[in-house]
Amino acid sequence: MAKPILITGASSGIGYELAQVCAAHGHDLILVARREEPMKALKAQLEDAHPVQVLTYHADLTCAATRQQLFAWTQTQGQPLYGLINNAGFGDLSEFAKADWAKLDAMLQLNIVALTHLSRLYLPGMIAQGQGRIMNVASTAAFLPGTYMAIYYASKAYVLSFTEALATELKGTGVTATTLCPGPTHSEFQDRANVRDIAWFNDSKLPTAAAVAAFGYSAMEKGQRTVVHGTPNKVLAFATRLLPRKQLANITGQMQGSTLNTATTKT
Ligand SMILES: NC(=O)c1ccc[n+]([C@@H]2O[C@H](COP(=O)([O-])OP(=O)(O)OC[C@H]3O[C@@H](n4cnc5c(N)ncnc54)[C@H](OP(=O)(O)O)[C@@H]3O)[C@@H](O)[C@H]2O)c1
Repeated sequence: MAKPILITGASSGIGYELAQVCAAHGHDLILVARREEPMKALKAQLEDAHPVQVLTYHADLTCAATRQQLFAWTQTQGQPLYGLINNAGFGDLSEFAKADWAKLDAMLQLNIVALTHLSRLYLPGMIAQGQGRIMNVASTAAFLPGTYMAIYYASKAYVLSFTEALATELKGTGVTATTLCPGPTHSEFQDRANVRDIAWFNDSKLPTAAAVAAFGYSAMEKGQRTVVHGTPNKVLAFATRLLPRKQLANITGQMQGSTLNTATTKT
């Protein structure tokens, strides 16, 4: 395989578009998500358009044994990975005390544990090769407390902190770790998280997943540490350093809480 990159959450949104941009740059791909059909169609399209080999693996990454099986399977497919993009993730608008624990648990497993476990599994092979790229998809949510999406924002703060520390540990190895922080972006995220009615997710001018993917791929290839997509999001990330965190929690509470009752009655 030519500089293979494994992308989680490749069946839609940013992950789907990352597959497009990686294939256009000549990378063979291993695409992972639960839905098989969109990935099969993507494989056919990419192999038709580019001289690359695309493998698909449908799996629920919240399960530790499944992640271990994925790793074992990829070890039989040829050379070690050049790149690992931990993109799969989801959010949920809910009041913590009333939230569905099974959903929160799955979010913690996917957004935090799977990302960490896959990094731990694949890093030694990359370090042994003296080259590699890890990109972990966080969010601008990483920079502030997210009232009524508390677990999601906290999970992205973990991704940012973990990946920044990892980037420093990897200095001199030839392997780099990049944190990609998109702001609200057109994808299936809004419907899954039940946030369609929140003003900052419901803007016709939201960036496309393709634009975020192209930005992320470029940062990953350059070995950049932490990148925020788009000027308004960069301003937001900077502004969070200036305001007290209590005030930030109040602001997200006002934005997200105002639609909570409407959103809950719709589900
Ligand atoms: N869109 C935004 O506004 C936004 C903003 C900031 C950050 N992000 C982050 O960007 C990343 C990609 O999200 P997106 O916007 O592209 O949303 P999306 O369109 O909903 O894509 C999420 C991807 O994750 C996969 N996935 C979900 N649960 C999974 C599981 N248990 N096991 C394996 N794969 C699973 C989904 O595929 P299956 O359902 O087929 O498994 C899908 O391919 C996420 O980490 C998200 O937090 C998004």
